[in-house]
Amino acid sequence: MKITVTGAAGRLGRAVVKALHAAGHQVAATDQCFTRELPVGVEVLNLLDADGCYRVLAGSEMVVHLGNVPGLNWTKPQRTYADSSVVNVNVFQAALDVGVRRIIYASSIQVVNGSRTRDQRGGTIPPSVLPYLPLDGHVPANPGNLYAAGKVAAENLLAYYAKFHGLSAVSLRFPVLLAPDDAKYTLTQVQRQGLLDEGFSCLAMPDAAELVAAVAAAELPGFRIYLPAGPGTTLAPQSVEEIVAQYYPQVPRRGQSEYDNLVDISEITRETGWRPKVRLVPASPGIDRATS
Ligand SMILES: NC(=O)c1ccc[n+]([C@@H]2O[C@H](COP(=O)([O-])OP(=O)(O)OC[C@H]3O[C@@H](n4cnc5c(N)ncnc54)[C@H](O)[C@@H]3O)[C@@H](O)[C@H]2O)c1
Repeated sequence: MKITVTGAAGRLGRAVVKALHAAGHQVAATDQCFTRELPVGVEVLNLLDADGCYRVLAGSEMVVHLGNVPGLNWTKPQRTYADSSVVNVNVFQAALDVGVRRIIYASSIQVVNGSRTRDQRGGTIPPSVLPYLPLDGHVPANPGNLYAAGKVAAENLLAYYAKFHGLSAVSLRFPVLLAPDDAKYTLTQVQRQGLLDEGFSCLAMPDAAELVAAVAAAELPGFRIYLPAGPGTTLAPQSVEEIVAQYYPQVPRRGQSEYDNLVDISEITRETGWRPKVRLVPASPGIDRATS
């Protein structure tokens, strides 16, 4: 299948292009930045250019749209929201117009987790805003910043294109994505700075890329949202029961995760066959207790 990948020069994009290429797809890679690190050439395009989006999508059956500003700390929050809104509608509308029938979109777990953080002065922890645990793709949106609000706007657009134009669309609400080699260092940062209602979940970059490949290979009509995660948590080796007692005592529990984490991926596995393979290296034990 011919698949256009936006954001192809980015961290996730590079892994996704390689996974789709290895799976035998014809990949058309595009990014505003050039890279030689891919098995295919990169067409350089700023996705704010609506007309250019028609060019990079022409002839593809699917677009894997990863080309967004990947968080709040890169530019002004207004800019993050505004640029992602323009980029997303440019890509989705051009996809519809040129006959691309399937869209896979990189959303974020930040869509659901509000803005719950520790009170840095008193060290107290406000109550969780999560409606239930383990998390899954059906948790209602509750964006706590403009990056997350932009992801919700994209999901609303995808629901529209699926409902009124018959496109197939899958939104992947990724948790923090880590390259396995960087996990030890980065998990320590995540423990210190992370938003508390992400369920302390994480996913290895190769598993995220394999998920995109699995979704591409599956028949998934309509619009659906997946919230994937790998085994373990960013607080490992603290147990899930200890994490729940400390951070989520009032949150209703619906069932058990298959893994030692707070995310239920059973629907994703059932519908696509995907299972994460990589357990990220836990950071130093006890660091979270010391800082909370
Ligand atoms: N990395 C994570 O932990 C994480 C977690 C959740 C969601 N996501 C989402 O996954 C996607 C990819 O994230 P990443 O970590 O690979 O980020 P990244 O910054 O490494 O890659 C994003 C790529 O998109 C490109 N891009 C951005 N705006 C563009 C534009 N206007 N025109 C053309 N190209 C543009 C950038 O040049 C970059 O190469 C993003 O949508 C991000 O929000 C990432």
